[in-house]
Amino acid sequence: MSYKIAPSILAADYANFAAELQRIDATGAEYVHIDIMDGQFVPNISFGADVVASMRKHSKLVFDCHLMVVNPERYVEAFAQAGADIMTIHVEATNHVHGALQKIKAAGMKAGVVINPGTPIEALSPVLALVDHVLIMTVNPGFGGQAFLPEMLEKVAAVAKIRDEKGYCYDIEVDGGVDDQTIKACADAGANVFVAGSYLFKANDLTAQVQTLRDALND
Ligand code: DX5
Ligand code: ZN
Repeated sequence: MSYKIAPSILAADYANFAAELQRIDATGAEYVHIDIMDGQFVPNISFGADVVASMRKHSKLVFDCHLMVVNPERYVEAFAQAGADIMTIHVEATNHVHGALQKIKAAGMKAGVVINPGTPIEALSPVLALVDHVLIMTVNPGFGGQAFLPEMLEKVAAVAKIRDEKGYCYDIEVDGGVDDQTIKACADAGANVFVAGSYLFKANDLTAQVQTLRDALND
């Protein structure tokens, strides 16, 4: 599977989304990772589908929406209407993860499932045949700038193995603490989509910083 870089808008300037999306576009990154937080599933609050709809007018990149929201099935239609391409939901956030993923696909989006660091991969097994995207959190969700949890690499390797054994076809994404030091181990374990927030946005030259990730992948 081809490598994809997903700059996280969480680390961008929230007052300048149009300009920030242009900056991301200019880097050649494939995705924009958009973190939706409700102040309940995670302590932090970001924004909802209306803001994503406004962002849509300023970017043609793949909108990779990561919902850290209780009962995300309530928002499937709203995110489809807003122009989300991928809608990824936490197994911990709903009693009806299978039904919610079916709903996401029926609404025309790619369906993604994500687990927190404390959740074992067995929680994913019943839905792996259904999803386009598996996200393994490599920090506890809610905030950017946290340290990468190397223990999560085992989970990446495990979901990659299941995919190969069963003939499934999901992408494997990692989110949290991804930088030029940690990205290669994620790829070696089997990840192919790499979210990066604080590492990218701390640099003035976003394009050069994305390139450092691609270089690290090629080492
Ligand atoms: C954390 C978010 C991440 C965040 C990653 O809850 O899901 O997408 O933006 O930020 P960094 O790359 O700084 O760890
Ligand atoms: Zn995220």
